Amino acid sequence: MGSIKISPSILSADFARLGEQVAEAEAAGADEIHFDVMDGKFVPGITFGFVVLEAVRRHTQLPIDVHMMVDDPIRFVPEYAAVPGLTMTVHVEACPDLTETIEAIGAAGMRPAVTLRPATPLSEIADALPLVDRVLVMTVVPGVGGQPFMDEVLPKIADLREIAVSHPRLEIAVDGGIKADTAPRAVAAGAATLISGSGVFGHPDGIAGGIRALRLAVERL
Ligand code: DX5
Ligand code: ZN
Repeated sequence: MGSIKISPSILSADFARLGEQVAEAEAAGADEIHFDVMDGKFVPGITFGFVVLEAVRRHTQLPIDVHMMVDDPIRFVPEYAAVPGLTMTVHVEACPDLTETIEAIGAAGMRPAVTLRPATPLSEIADALPLVDRVLVMTVVPGVGGQPFMDEVLPKIADLREIAVSHPRLEIAVDGGIKADTAPRAVAAGAATLISGSGVFGHPDGIAGGIRALRLAVERL
């Protein structure tokens, strides 16, 4: 499938060489950079935020998907919108008013996307589907990299693909445990964008090797 996009998640990058690693991912054909913001509240860990995002922006021309694993993410919309080329992906579980949050993201000039934990049903995001460009289906419990892919989420991806027929611009992404062995199952179920952290930045053949392995795994589907 030629149209599959690969979005390396810098959560598994070498943070001491972040600029180089992001540039290497771009040179190796990545379609996007995935940037995991964690607040120590919506998820237990804390990662990075706006100042690191600005630094990453200076090292790549690629679109950046900011995955907001934070409570009430609308608080960050005005600040983050100053960085060009962003998709802002918010958790339905974290938004007191999901529609208001999505509208604020779009009004601020970012591409709006919604995501949901493995245990959250699609019915929770039904009202948001006409308003977003992307649904990111979490295929692990959000919070840390390197967890195993949850096969039990595959029916949710397939259900979403059916629903997406009536929303032609809706793109389906997956995040969590995506490697060469699991990517074909996610793509067969309907995913078009593969977010991968340890599968790219932790690949034994390096960043380019990880991206190549993902592409080879799905190209004949
Ligand atoms: C997990 C993050 C992911 C993470 C994925 O909460 O949202 O983006 O980087 O890591 P892997 O691909 O290693 O499962
Ligand atoms: Zn993520």
